[in-house]
Amino acid sequence: MPDSPYEWPAELWERLRAAAEDEPESVTAAIVRDLVPDGGTVLDVGAGTGRASLPLAREGYRLTVVERDPGMIAGLRRQTARWGVDVAVIEGSWPEAAVEAGRHDVAMCANVVYDVADVGPFLAALNAAARRAVVVEMTPHHPWQSLAPYYRALHQLERPGGPTAGDLAAIIEEELGVAPTRREWSGPGSLRFSSFDELVEYQRRRLVLPRERTAELERLLQADIVRDGEWFLLGPAERTLVTLSWEASP
Ligand SMILES: C[S@@+](CC[C@H](N)C(=O)[O-])C[C@H]1O[C@@H](n2cnc3c(N)ncnc32)[C@H](O)[C@@H]1O
Repeated sequence: MPDSPYEWPAELWERLRAAAEDEPESVTAAIVRDLVPDGGTVLDVGAGTGRASLPLAREGYRLTVVERDPGMIAGLRRQTARWGVDVAVIEGSWPEAAVEAGRHDVAMCANVVYDVADVGPFLAALNAAARRAVVVEMTPHHPWQSLAPYYRALHQLERPGGPTAGDLAAIIEEELGVAPTRREWSGPGSLRFSSFDELVEYQRRRLVLPRERTAELERLLQADIVRDGEWFLLGPAERTLVTLSWEASP
């Protein structure tokens, strides 16, 4: 699709990962560490450039990642080389890559589930890949929900209110017969853009707006841009996150 709204520019996720180095440990990483035995193994599905799980590999946990985007994998490999950590990388899609990935003490997955069309088999495969527990991080609502006012202004259309983390918890209970534990927390997560133009171009794609209407979008976004040092952000730097975790069922 030309100008697809679904592409993930790996550079933006590398910036987020780098920013996380200066922040306190994420709640998700702390939950995973509590669940993994000493010398245990962690599987990160949809690892991107490794923001959520690479710090655990740096501490010595054995980490396997599954990622389907070659740009993200390249970013992740650059970071493992910089830190001198050994990570097993499986280039492929979940759940198709589950056989190659094998079983691990904890299976984790951060900021991926809203991208998954058929979430039941995706969750079942995560559950089957975990000996002890599964940990899933996401935003409370679909991340594009914050774009609803712009979508309305530009297209005169309402975006759907869901899906939400609550919907996912209900699906986990229905599919796997287990009620996940829910932790809500606040952490960094706003994408950081190096210029106003880069931010506008990214949001133009997300908002499925033809290039010739860029000036209209610039006028709409202008008032909501936040500067954070050298970066341009849309909205606050902190965002609410939800981490669901459950004991893996046999
Ligand atoms: C928003 S990024 C999150 C990256 C990382 N987990 C984080 O929290 O920083 C979502 C990532 O999941 C990957 N992804 C989405 N669906 C996937 C699937 N079915 N199998 C493997 N990777 C997937 C995308 O390529 C992308 O790199």
